[in-house]
Amino acid sequence: MKVAIDGPAGAGKSTLAKAVAKKLGFVYIDTGAMYRAIGLYMLDRKVELSDETALKAALDDVKLDIAYENDAQQVYLNGENVTGRIRTEAAGDMASKVSTLLPVREKLVMLQQEMAERIDVVMDGRDIGTVVLPNAELKVYFTAGSRVRAERRFKELSEKGITGITVEEIEEEIIARDYRDMHREHSPLKQAEDAILVDSSDLTIEEGVERVIALINERR
Ligand code: DC
Repeated sequence: MKVAIDGPAGAGKSTLAKAVAKKLGFVYIDTGAMYRAIGLYMLDRKVELSDETALKAALDDVKLDIAYENDAQQVYLNGENVTGRIRTEAAGDMASKVSTLLPVREKLVMLQQEMAERIDVVMDGRDIGTVVLPNAELKVYFTAGSRVRAERRFKELSEKGITGITVEEIEEEIIARDYRDMHREHSPLKQAEDAILVDSSDLTIEEGVERVIALINERR
């Protein structure tokens, strides 16, 4: 069975998808992590994204491996475990930029389709229901208002002791990233026609998980 979860940044997709996969014994595949790893590669090597030849050469050199260690997805970039390093704001911002490029998307979509071929998966991203797994048995479009997402992010950062950014600034960044993800030429973020909209603004994680599990059970 294939479950596709799409939606904007910060809606809680990965927390939801991870919990649902765990409850059902499915494999959780975080596709954003793959775009982040490519972003990190381009940052590390200072690749000029507008230089098509340099971009193609860089992509040919990228070897991405996804492994599962203690149930957690690990991302290896040319042999280096970059699972921690891809979580910075800089890698996230670069991920959003490289994800607009067709050669990057083609490479990753192929890899994601191969990964989902023979196993039960919950996959989250932006184009899973529309492009990667168009035949998924369940498609969920998981979203929340930009203010709610900014407040959640602010709380997360405060808990890590990171200060110096306001909720308003975070919300501005979220709106800018949404705009970029929704208006790019290739595979823009949008709700698939057959996806079910779940708004997490007023839901706890547990309520979101229960709702998605109920939807899956209706289809099994
Ligand atoms: O979900 P995330 O924040 O880790 O994703 C990082 C970036 O990658 C995000 O700006 C959009 C892009 N992305 C994408 O274009 N397609 C996907 N399937 C997953 C992520």
